[in-house]
Amino acid sequence: MKKIKLSVVPGDGIGNEVMPHALDILDVVGEIHGGLDFEYEHFEYGCDYYLKHGKMMADDGMERLAESDSILLGAVGDASKVPDHISLWGLLLKIRQEFELGINVRPAKVFKGIDSPLSDPAHFDLVIVRENSEGEYSSVGGRMYRGDDEIAIQNNVFSKRATKQAMEYAFKLSAGRSHHVTSATKSNGIFHAMPFWDEVFSETSAQYEGITTSQQHIDALAASLVTHPQRYDTIVASNLFGDILTDIGAAIMGSIGIAPSANLNLNGKFPSMFEPVHGSAPDIAGQGVANPIGQIWTVKMLLDHHGEEEMGSVLLDTLESVAAERILTPDVGGNATTDEVAGEVIKRLKRKV
Ligand code: NAD
Ligand code: IPM
Ligand code: MN
Repeated sequence: MKKIKLSVVPGDGIGNEVMPHALDILDVVGEIHGGLDFEYEHFEYGCDYYLKHGKMMADDGMERLAESDSILLGAVGDASKVPDHISLWGLLLKIRQEFELGINVRPAKVFKGIDSPLSDPAHFDLVIVRENSEGEYSSVGGRMYRGDDEIAIQNNVFSKRATKQAMEYAFKLSAGRSHHVTSATKSNGIFHAMPFWDEVFSETSAQYEGITTSQQHIDALAASLVTHPQRYDTIVASNLFGDILTDIGAAIMGSIGIAPSANLNLNGKFPSMFEPVHGSAPDIAGQGVANPIGQIWTVKMLLDHHGEEEMGSVLLDTLESVAAERILTPDVGGNATTDEVAGEVIKRLKRKV
C-alpha cells in the first residue's frame, strides 16, 4: 500500500467550504486505486488561529508541516480579522518562501461545460510558470519619515538561481506541449530587474534547442491574452506578473473559482503545496455556493505530482463530465451549491470503485 501523508490547511473563508470535499475525493480516489492511502494531519492555521494565539501558525508549525509529503491548502486571508499582509506573510507566503517552493504551476484551459466570457476561446490551453519565492514579493525595504513626507521603499529581489529555475521549468514543460515559451517582461520600465530577467531568459533559451520563444511586456501581454488567448502555450513570469496573469487565465476559463495551482519544491528538501488560485472570497463565504472545482482540480495536480497521473486523469475527466451537464455553482452560471457539485463528482467517482 502506497501511503501519502498530507498536511491539510483549509485556512479562511471558503477554504473551509471546499477543503472537506477535496479530502472526501482523495478517499474515493484511494478506493478506486486499491493501493493508495492518504493520511491527513489537520492544521487550523488561519485568521481565527491568529485571533486566539497572536500568530498565524504554531511556533513549531513549519517543522510539523515539513514532516508531510505534500501540503493541501484552501485559502488564507480575512481582512476583517487580520490585515492581509500579516496573515499572508505569516502563513501562505511564509510556506512558499521558507519551503523553497520556487515554482508555481498554474494551468488554464477551455473547461468542457463552462462558458468563457470570450467569444472564441477555442483551443485556449495555457500553463503559466510563476517564479514563486522572490521577485516583487520581498520584505526588503521599509517606511521612513512621517506625515506628508512619508515614503515606502519596496525592493525587488531577483536571484539568478530562482529566475533560471523557473525558466528551465517552463522550457521543460513546453517540451511536452507545443514547444513555445513566452516570457513576461517589463524591461522598458523596470530598470534593473527586468533587463536581468531578459538576459537570463535568452541564456536559458540557448540551452533548449527546438523550443521557440517570444517575449512581451506584461501590459501588452495581459491585453493580448484576452484578445488572442490561443497564441499562448507556456508563459514564464515573475512572481507578481505571474499572479496577475493567472487570474486573467482563470477569468478566460470562466471563473477564478476553477483554477488550480501547484507550488513546487524542486530540491527535495521540503513538501510541495497544492492550492486553488482563488482566495477566501469573504463576499460569498458562508453561503454554500463556492465553486469547488479549483480545489478539486488542485487534487488532480497533487496526484500527478505523486506519480498517480492515471488517477489524476480519472478525476479531471469526472470533473469535466459534471461541468458538461451544467451541475455548476452560480459564478459559472449554474444554480447548484458547493455540496451538490462536489457530491456529484464523488457519486460519479464511486461508480468506478
Ligand atoms: P478572492 O479570490 O477571494 O475573490 C475574488 C472574487 O472571486 C470574489 O468575488 C469571490 O467571491 C470570487 N471567488 C473566488 N473564489 C471563488 C470560488 N471558489 N467560487 C466562486 N467565486 C469565487 O480574492 P480577493 O477578494 O482579492 O481576496 C480575498 C481574501 O483572500 C484576501 O484576504 C486575500 O488576500 C486572500 N487571497 C488568498 C489567496 C490564497 O490563499 N491563495 C489567493 C487570493 C486571495
Ligand atoms: C495567489 C494570491 C497570493 C499571491 C496572495 C494572497 C498573497 O493572490 O496565490 O495568487 O499574491 O501570490
Ligand atoms: Mn493571486
